[in-house]
Amino acid sequence: MLEIDDVRVGYHRSTVLHGVSVEVPKDGVAAVLGHNGAGKSTLLRAAVGLLTPTAGRVRLDGEDITRRRPHERVARGMAYVPQGQQAFPHLTTAENLRLVADGRRRGKAAVDEALHLFPALRTLASRRAGLLSGGQRQQLAIARALVTGPRVLLLDEPTEGIQPSVVTEIEETILALAGRGGLSVLLVEQHVGFAMRAAQRYYVLESGRVTSSGTGGREAEASVREALSV
Ligand SMILES: Nc1ncnc2c1ncn2[C@@H]1O[C@H](COP(=O)(O)OP(=O)(O)OP(=O)(O)O)[C@@H](O)[C@H]1O
Ligand SMILES: [Mg+2]
Repeated sequence: MLEIDDVRVGYHRSTVLHGVSVEVPKDGVAAVLGHNGAGKSTLLRAAVGLLTPTAGRVRLDGEDITRRRPHERVARGMAYVPQGQQAFPHLTTAENLRLVADGRRRGKAAVDEALHLFPALRTLASRRAGLLSGGQRQQLAIARALVTGPRVLLLDEPTEGIQPSVVTEIEETILALAGRGGLSVLLVEQHVGFAMRAAQRYYVLESGRVTSSGTGGREAEASVREALSV
């Protein structure tokens, strides 16, 4: 599905990832864990094409997309939800979704589907996104990504800074999305319990290197916590 192969990438002259390999299973979830500054967001930016690796390859269904522009990757079925619950604050919830849907085949149906996944958003359709809570804005950001009908979804810390009750809602939706087939997810997540529940594969990043990886699931949780504690 999505393969990040020995990627070296950074900003200007500073290298952040020193040869990182991550594989996202078809219709499955790969979780990336690591402390602040480890390079998790940098990895997602390289995956979606906002940063170009100086070495290594990114492949989607076997096709080398390392030099493809972000919009070309989106056209191939990739969607990216950046860290920080971003939305157009002066547009309403519905307008934020329609913005992505406009000009797409099945655009309106896709907006309805996205709203169906996040019932909380339905009642907020005409509220300006700038007035939504952090959790509601995060749901909107995920919904907006889903409007493009992606095959691969890149999620950067979808539960960061969100109150616990809404975190559970967002987690359940991500699990449901991953479970219904046809969608692969690369999930950056600091909550180890949720990440390991969702993931078939996990990767621990430390200072731009994968220091631990393996099969996901509850059983691996202890070894991940240990890898993160050092
Ligand atoms: N736009 C940028 N320009 C220069 N350096 C950057 C930029 N963004 C991130 N960095 C640096 O790259 C390194 C990795 O940052 P990154 O944002 O990928 O970490 P992260 O694992 O996502 O952290 P967090 O958990 O805090 O989100 C850090 O040292 C950071 O200072
Ligand atoms: Mg980050």
